[in-house]
Amino acid sequence: MSPNKEFWSSSKGFVLAMAGSAIGLGNIWRFSYIMGKYGGAAFMLVYLAAIFLIGLPIMLCELSLGRASGKGPLEAMTELAPKRTTLSFFAAVALTLGAAAFAFKGMYFHAGVTGFFALGALLFGWGFLGFTVTFLTPLMIAVFYSVVGGWIIIYTIVSPLGKIFREPTVSAELLDNIVTASGSQYWVTIAAAAAFFLATAFIVMAGVQKGIERFSKIFMPIIFILIIVIIIRALTLPGAKEGLRFLFLPDFSKMSAEGIMAALGQAFFTLSLGAGVGIAYGSYLGKSSSLPKTAITIVIMDTIASILAGLAIFPLLFATGLSPQEGTSLVFKILPAAFGKLPLSPLWGTIFFFTLLLAALTSSISMLEGAVQGIMQKLYLGRAKAVILLILVLGPLVPLTAVSAANYANIPKLGKFFSETLQLRSDSFFAILDNTTCLWLMPLAGLMTLLYVSFVWGKKKAMEEMNCFNAFEWLFSNIWFFVVRFISPVLVIMAFLKGLGIFF
Ligand code: PHE
Repeated sequence: MSPNKEFWSSSKGFVLAMAGSAIGLGNIWRFSYIMGKYGGAAFMLVYLAAIFLIGLPIMLCELSLGRASGKGPLEAMTELAPKRTTLSFFAAVALTLGAAAFAFKGMYFHAGVTGFFALGALLFGWGFLGFTVTFLTPLMIAVFYSVVGGWIIIYTIVSPLGKIFREPTVSAELLDNIVTASGSQYWVTIAAAAAFFLATAFIVMAGVQKGIERFSKIFMPIIFILIIVIIIRALTLPGAKEGLRFLFLPDFSKMSAEGIMAALGQAFFTLSLGAGVGIAYGSYLGKSSSLPKTAITIVIMDTIASILAGLAIFPLLFATGLSPQEGTSLVFKILPAAFGKLPLSPLWGTIFFFTLLLAALTSSISMLEGAVQGIMQKLYLGRAKAVILLILVLGPLVPLTAVSAANYANIPKLGKFFSETLQLRSDSFFAILDNTTCLWLMPLAGLMTLLYVSFVWGKKKAMEEMNCFNAFEWLFSNIWFFVVRFISPVLVIMAFLKGLGIFF
């Protein structure tokens, strides 16, 4: 396998591309509905702790693995150390025990999946982690992300007409029909999701500098400006204060074990961790950039984006007397109603959905890049051919997910298979993809990456790759490695155990 031939044109281009990956639907759509669900400020505190104690350290691990190996997520880890090590063997043993525990509880699907991972870890060692973060996780995300991307395309197109804002029932009905892909919206939903997926693929096809970097460089600043426009509008409304209270005054009675797992999952999702992105993008980075500085910048930009999105959304909701507890449809159903109460609603609404669309695209391209890089290197294909192969293989899953985003009414047979035969309790295929990736695959891959850097790659090489330019960076890197070895893994494991109801 040959190393990369492409590179970012500058450190700034790289930071904007990584920030483009991180800032997306996760910050606006997912963050706001999850925060609404788990009680606002208390959730935010746990989330911030997860970002800085787990997210930032893992991001630095991923970037350094990518740059050190000069290869994408598929082979970075096997390039830097032997394929199978004692640790990968223990991981396989732990996964086998996990599979046995699931089987014992009668959860055969979970047992099967965990068993599959155990076998993969046993046979391919760290190569299997590479496979998971190159293909499995990011591509599963790309599929459900395209469905939401499709909804956003529809909203961006109908916003200027203003009807969804003037008549809230129109928006509610539109969304119901779109999300359930029913009635007149069946084909529209499919076409929109497909359009989003293909748009993503075409940007990736244009390459690292001309596609990903250029697109992110142009649109990231625009996204920030547009969010600020909406915030100014929201904060100048009477009653906006309630929204600020919801965002910043914690009520810990609302914090549950489920909320803690959700905060962890959100930290992984929003920073694009455990999905190969940091390794893929890091592999195109020149040696002269400082990793601590870039990683801190990216994480801070992402956190600011989430808080800004919160500042735009919650004051608007409270000022217009609407509830933040709406769930996945919050930005689709409730926000149009909120915009509708303002003068010039089509303007605000169009700005909002257009921002969301841009942010979603700069993220979705990063989900495909690692896989495209892996296909190019393994199969010796050019970029265009690798992208086409990906479209052909992954494409059919997009309409399937689009028509089963809310429930299985459109595909009853498959629904029965998922819910009865496989005993998957989620109410839609969409929810299966979302839950499996955010609550399981990403945190697990993150944990394994931490252990890999701590105990397999080791301190000496990791510190070398940090490439510190001054005393502050040196100190930061030492603290980073300590956190990677002793703090982040413990926290991830605790959150897992708590999520499973085993711990406290
Ligand atoms: N971070 C992106 C967002 O917040 C989602 C994402 C997850 C992107 C995983 C790439 C990989 O929307």
